[in-house]
Amino acid sequence: MINGPNLNLLGTREPEIYGHETFDDYCLHLKKKYPSIEFSYFQSNIEGEIIDELQRVGFSYAGIILNPGGYTHTSVAIGDAIAAIKTEVVEVHLSNVHAREEFRKISHISSKCKGTISGFGLKSYELALQYFL
Ligand code: DQA
Repeated sequence: MINGPNLNLLGTREPEIYGHETFDDYCLHLKKKYPSIEFSYFQSNIEGEIIDELQRVGFSYAGIILNPGGYTHTSVAIGDAIAAIKTEVVEVHLSNVHAREEFRKISHISSKCKGTISGFGLKSYELALQYFL
């Protein structure tokens, strides 16, 4: 699982949109529910670091669940990185990006991914996991 900018603030960041749970707490819940799955979690607020991580895990891991945060709508380079790696990527968003501002309807990521899950809160990550399972 790779999270982009500001997702380290889940739990306190705009809770009316993103909820009250921290990502660390949610990870604990996922690990308990899926004890046989080996999770790796990376978060960065820096575009190049997200690309480095995609390249690092993108040739050996079974699946990548990526929430690129605001970079979804701006980053050609993250889209290019997804196209360059072998591991399938599922794009996730907590909020329904299509029900928000116009600029959030543009994604440089979606067309490079296996699919997109958007609008189910933290459950979006588990739904992506279900695809890989
Ligand atoms: C987000 C949606 C993006 O538009 C926003 O910039 C985020 C979070 C989501 O999970 O709903 O940072 O990716």
